[in-house]
Amino acid sequence: MQKLRINGGHSLKGELAISGSKNAALPIMAACLLCPNEIQIENVPNLRDIKTMSLLLSHMGATIEKGTENTIKINAKNINQKFAPYDLVKTMRASIVVLGPLLARFGEAIVSLPGGCSIGARPVNLHIEGLSAMGAKIEIKNGYIHAVASELKGCEFEFNPVSVTGTANLMMAASLAKGKTILDNSAKEPEIVNLGEFLITLGANISGLGTEQIIIEGVKSLKSECFKVIPDRIEAATFLIAALITRSNLKINNLIPDHLKEPIDILRGSGAKINVSRESIDIKPPEKIKPVSFKTEPYPGIPTDIQAQLMVLNILADGHSTIHETIFENRFMHVLELQRMGADISLSRNVASIKGIKGLKSAPVMATDLRASAALVLAALAAEGETIVDRIYHIDRGYENIDKKLSSIGAMVERIES
Ligand code: UD1
Repeated sequence: MQKLRINGGHSLKGELAISGSKNAALPIMAACLLCPNEIQIENVPNLRDIKTMSLLLSHMGATIEKGTENTIKINAKNINQKFAPYDLVKTMRASIVVLGPLLARFGEAIVSLPGGCSIGARPVNLHIEGLSAMGAKIEIKNGYIHAVASELKGCEFEFNPVSVTGTANLMMAASLAKGKTILDNSAKEPEIVNLGEFLITLGANISGLGTEQIIIEGVKSLKSECFKVIPDRIEAATFLIAALITRSNLKINNLIPDHLKEPIDILRGSGAKINVSRESIDIKPPEKIKPVSFKTEPYPGIPTDIQAQLMVLNILADGHSTIHETIFENRFMHVLELQRMGADISLSRNVASIKGIKGLKSAPVMATDLRASAALVLAALAAEGETIVDRIYHIDRGYENIDKKLSSIGAMVERIES
């Protein structure tokens, strides 16, 4: 098992480019199941989760060809298995997004229930209820979702609560369903907009992207096209936070500033000087970091996926702050590890109270999930001395070449084998 050895306490400098968005690329890859022709996708990050999705699609009979420069070609002409096995789904919950496309194109799908998760219960009842409302017959047997539908029909469905992959699944299924589907309280995340734009490029009839109500008029078939994935706003936010906690000036390129409005406001609130250009952000740290209290919310609010990283910023701030996690009930696993590095945090249910401290101390720490591992890497960059971050397979799920990117801006980071 690999670890990261990080020698912290140094400032960083220079610029780096953000990779393609994992959470946009995954459903876009699954959406290729809707079409019997080859589709080219550009700006696909080289990540463990992308490999898992490739494995899942090829297991079903799709061919995946890796081109140059983060481009992949997917051909789902010869799908012979409409089946997503537990072994793959358990390593990546987002595998559930194959359910809608399989059912819409082939009229059947058997997809493992994702099971437990370190950040909360994460049920998939809305995916199942939504597809049932479109006429699918769904049974849960031996831990698997068995879905059949001779024809999916348009329907009106309201998400409660709003679900990102739930919206993705129903939008994909509705693209080939008969008639009009109205999805209320839909996710407005840029990754959902990107998926919708991809489906529109293939010939789907979708309106209302980026709003609470997405309307899909089903079409008979979709065509082959080429599409580029948006940059990863979570990776971008993580590097912006890295600049502040290491007291460094950085330029982060290849991002869409509009996708980062609330995180930029929070970082400005902490005293950061931020200069936004068309596709890049220059960031400078303040003399003293101001604490910023916030709650996580669906887009356009502060994403739960940067809650852990922003906690590291607050740990190093001059004063007290609170963080209210409203999306997942157990997304504070990083707190115990950060406490081992000297953080002063107390937890009461889904609220963390943080007393800022002067500096973190190095320690061996263990990543518990993807974003928690990003927080530990940030903490290690800020802490004086050597920190070993264990179980970095979590970070490799969602951050492309994290060690190389950090080294390129002057961080002392080394990937080591256990
Ligand atoms: C997606 C993102 C993940 C992010 C999360 C919230 C991907 C691949 N993953 O996860 O990085 O942290 O959005 O922004 O895009 N819920 C139900 N029933 C359902 C589905 C969800 O009750 O059927 C609840 C969940 O338990 C959670 C909330 O809805 O409390 C939001 O979850 P959801 O948006 O579905 O998260 P994911 O799509 O799994």
